[in-house]
Amino acid sequence: MKVLLGVLGLFGILVLSSCRVSGPGKWETLAANKAKRVTIGGKDWKNPMPDTPEAVKVGERHFQRHCQVCHGLDGHNTGVPFADRMSPPVADLGGEDIQAYTDGQLKWIIENGIRFTGMPGWDGVLKDDEMWYMVRFMRHLPTKGSLGPPAVFLDDNEHKEMEKALKVPVKEPAKRRGRGRPDA
Ligand code: HEC
Repeated sequence: MKVLLGVLGLFGILVLSSCRVSGPGKWETLAANKAKRVTIGGKDWKNPMPDTPEAVKVGERHFQRHCQVCHGLDGHNTGVPFADRMSPPVADLGGEDIQAYTDGQLKWIIENGIRFTGMPGWDGVLKDDEMWYMVRFMRHLPTKGSLGPPAVFLDDNEHKEMEKALKVPVKEPAKRRGRGRPDA
């Protein structure tokens, strides 16, 4: 029944948006969000992990291994250069909308991802308890910016070092070709 109402609501929004001349972006976003909320499951799933600082730490470790490339080390996308360029943009996990989900819904989102967005599903990649630990971490996110950017997006110096390292294998094949020629 809930799903039916949601679908009807979505239909209403779509009809409204097609009549509106101004602000299609806003209506589109609203419709997409409505559709998303209808499909997200897991509302009543209970988090089996204890709500302790240790559990949050474990969750942080898993998060910073698998999710930081898009969500940053802090879950607020700090230092992720493309976060705003994805469509829809990478969500700030400290945002009100996200924190309003139940633990079960957050676990469901990690497991299944969000269709038609860049948020991948992790079913079969992460274990259940890893996902639940991550949910614990998401309830205690560090302050935005406090952990700096993920290492992959480090500053210019790092980048220069990488380029230096890359030059070596580029030169070598050129030398080898030269050696074969009589006039080299
Ligand atoms: C490839 C980039 C990418 C990776 C990796 C990624 N996410 Fe996301 N995530 C996104 C994007 C983009 C969104 C926004 C989706 C939307 O607006 O519906 C998002 C949204 C979310 C949301 C909020 C969903 C909502 O309803 O807005 C949660 C929670 C989340 N991600 C958790 C995680 C966790 C935990 C991991 C690691 C296991 C992870 N993400 C890995 C890109 C990513």
